[in-house]
Amino acid sequence: MKDIRHGTRKLNTEEDTRSLGLEIAEALEPGDAVALIGDLGTGKTALTKYIAEGLGVTEEINSPTFTIVKEYRSGRLPLYHFDVYRLGSGEELLDIGAEEMLDGDGVCVIEWADIVADVLPDEALAVILEYGENEGERIAEILD
Ligand SMILES: Nc1ncnc2c1ncn2[C@@H]1O[C@H](COP(=O)(O)OP(=O)(O)O)[C@@H](O)[C@H]1O
Ligand SMILES: [Mg+2]
Repeated sequence: MKDIRHGTRKLNTEEDTRSLGLEIAEALEPGDAVALIGDLGTGKTALTKYIAEGLGVTEEINSPTFTIVKEYRSGRLPLYHFDVYRLGSGEELLDIGAEEMLDGDGVCVIEWADIVADVLPDEALAVILEYGENEGERIAEILD
């Protein structure tokens, strides 16, 4: 992954979340993973949509809560969008065949990544999302 500014960022509006998503997309290289951590409604799916936009994905992105993973091929790199909310462990992620995707030449964006952290690559970019004080505000912490 190319360099991206780490640390805490205040996302005052969804447009700021979009800017972050576009920035992450620009930094992504084959084989990269982005681990999204945060409560329901903090914007994990929204951020994924903007990462997809930045990659040039033309399909609509929907949260893959029931299928666990959805693959999008229309962008600059293949995008594997995971929502592992319904899984209990990293082992269960491997059981559904995710290793091939994690080790492949696409990029993986994983919602609820804390559940499967033990099987994610050490180099994954972690983004922790929290609610801000006011409606529409979110806080993103970007970690290595
Ligand atoms: N600053 C913001 N960044 C991202 N989403 C925001 C923001 N402000 C409001 N929202 C709204 O919050 C909701 C986030 O939902 P979603 O992305 O599905 O969350 P999650 O996937 O974390 O459960 C969306 O309806 C989005 O429009
Ligand atoms: Mg979601």
